[in-house]
Amino acid sequence: MIRGAWYAVTQRENLTTKPMKVTIHGQDYVLYRDEKGMVCAGDAYCPHRGCDLSLGTVEGAELICPFHGWRFDRDGRCTRVPANRGVWDVPKNAARATYEACEKAEWVWLYTAPKRVDMDASTEPDLFPELCSDNWTRTPFRATWHAHFVRVVESVLDVSHLPFVHPQTTGAGVNPEVDGPEYALTSNRILIHPKPFAPVHPMEPVEAVETEDERTEIELRAPNLWIIRTPMGDGNAMCTFLTFTPCDTQTTEIFGAVARNFDMDSPLLDEFHLSHTRFVMGQDQAIIESIRPVAPPYDLHREAHVRSDGPTVHYRAMMRTWLEEESLR
Ligand code: FES
Ligand SMILES: [Fe+2]
Repeated sequence: MIRGAWYAVTQRENLTTKPMKVTIHGQDYVLYRDEKGMVCAGDAYCPHRGCDLSLGTVEGAELICPFHGWRFDRDGRCTRVPANRGVWDVPKNAARATYEACEKAEWVWLYTAPKRVDMDASTEPDLFPELCSDNWTRTPFRATWHAHFVRVVESVLDVSHLPFVHPQTTGAGVNPEVDGPEYALTSNRILIHPKPFAPVHPMEPVEAVETEDERTEIELRAPNLWIIRTPMGDGNAMCTFLTFTPCDTQTTEIFGAVARNFDMDSPLLDEFHLSHTRFVMGQDQAIIESIRPVAPPYDLHREAHVRSDGPTVHYRAMMRTWLEEESLR
């Protein structure tokens, strides 16, 4: 699993001064807001006797262990051992590892590699403009899939499944011949233009050719930020954003939002877009959770691939390279 990445852990309003435990890559972290509202993150267990610090309390900027009352500042240093009189009694190894965390768009994000001394204070997840602009209205949601992170991400890069998994919705009337798909790679990004699909029947009239700006577009910012943009004409557009958090090797948390830049104040449209998205994702979930082996083989020869798998094969190769590079650090 990739450690050097930002992972969404909760919606912003859910994080308070009550410590919250989350699991990423099978490792437990505790996050909380200090009394100034700053987000703090660190290892979940106390360096003294391993008590779960999510059972603790926050006072000022300090997290207090519920077992013997040791206090830790936001950098993980133990500032006080109540059973002993002086600060000189704090053992050198009485410190917790801490991590970068921030708030952006609707979520709290955690960077799961240890704090980097060279990390620019402004470093944060590289989110899409639709998530950071007041010209878009967004309705967030979350889902839990019992599937491997890479399998889940690959499912949203795969356009050839649409007529089979979503015959009533996104795949309705779609010919299985995806004719490509057309896609482009730039460093850690994959851009897919899933159209044009061939007409279902050869005698059906071909729809008017879409211009560059009218095409549906899928963008992935690896490893885990994904968006699909659907133009609606006259500059109006809808999009669905998803980000994926690997809890462990067989559980992936999905945080998402449906968004649009028109009819901003329409709860009915919010609800319609959200229920459509949940329905489509439910169909995907049943398929992706059925995949064996659960973890995708990084040796590409162990699965069969065809041309329409281009984006998913590139993603898997990208993840393999990333993992190899992390293991060398
Ligand atoms: S276990 Fe945390 S203070 Fe003892
Ligand atoms: Fe799907």
